Amino acid sequence: MKFFVDTADVAAIAELAELGMVDGVTTNPSLILKSGRDILEVTREICGLVDGPVSAEVVALSAPEMIDEGRKLADIAPNIAVKVPLTWDGLKACKALTTEGFTVNVTLCFSAGQALLAAKAGASFVSPFIGRLDDINMDGMDLIADIRTIYDNYGFGTEILAASIRSVNHVTQAALMGADVATAPPDVLKKMAEHPLTDKGLAAFMADWEKTGQKIL
Ligand code: E4P
Repeated sequence: MKFFVDTADVAAIAELAELGMVDGVTTNPSLILKSGRDILEVTREICGLVDGPVSAEVVALSAPEMIDEGRKLADIAPNIAVKVPLTWDGLKACKALTTEGFTVNVTLCFSAGQALLAAKAGASFVSPFIGRLDDINMDGMDLIADIRTIYDNYGFGTEILAASIRSVNHVTQAALMGADVATAPPDVLKKMAEHPLTDKGLAAFMADWEKTGQKIL
């Protein structure tokens, strides 16, 4: 499974990238707002930090304007993935931009039918939003499983990018369901290293080591 970081926080991306944990980055208008930075400037900086796809989202609602914005965003760096919403206009923009050779991530996917359309429009990635489905008492993981089955049934190459991830469990469940990518906030990725038994075991080893009176360095 590939890990994308869902943030426009350059310092957080740099820290995880140093560990080789970052296969890509996803941003959205809310994350750009949170960063307090100019979209073109911060996206360029992120593209310089990671080799993989960096999703930058269009904000127009009509296909022709999305296409123009997509071209401008794609101009930032060769590893830009243009993010378009899963609307009819977004699908038109997806088709046009992929035909021009750009990488496209179709976002805000909440149903298997929408994911089928994204694949048919040539999307490189489709982003089903797990957490936001859970928020309305639906099971986001069922959606990942359904999309996996449908894409495998017909051999679609569109990668399933599990998004709106809020917990470590979301990441592991998405991996079990066969999502190709999980995009998660930096704190969720870091929490994956934590386990109470690891802490307990380490504390016991430290206590015993202290008793030996030895030193390694
Ligand atoms: C994905 O690309 C989105 O940026 C993101 O995962 C949305 O997550 P949220 O529902 O926690 O805002």
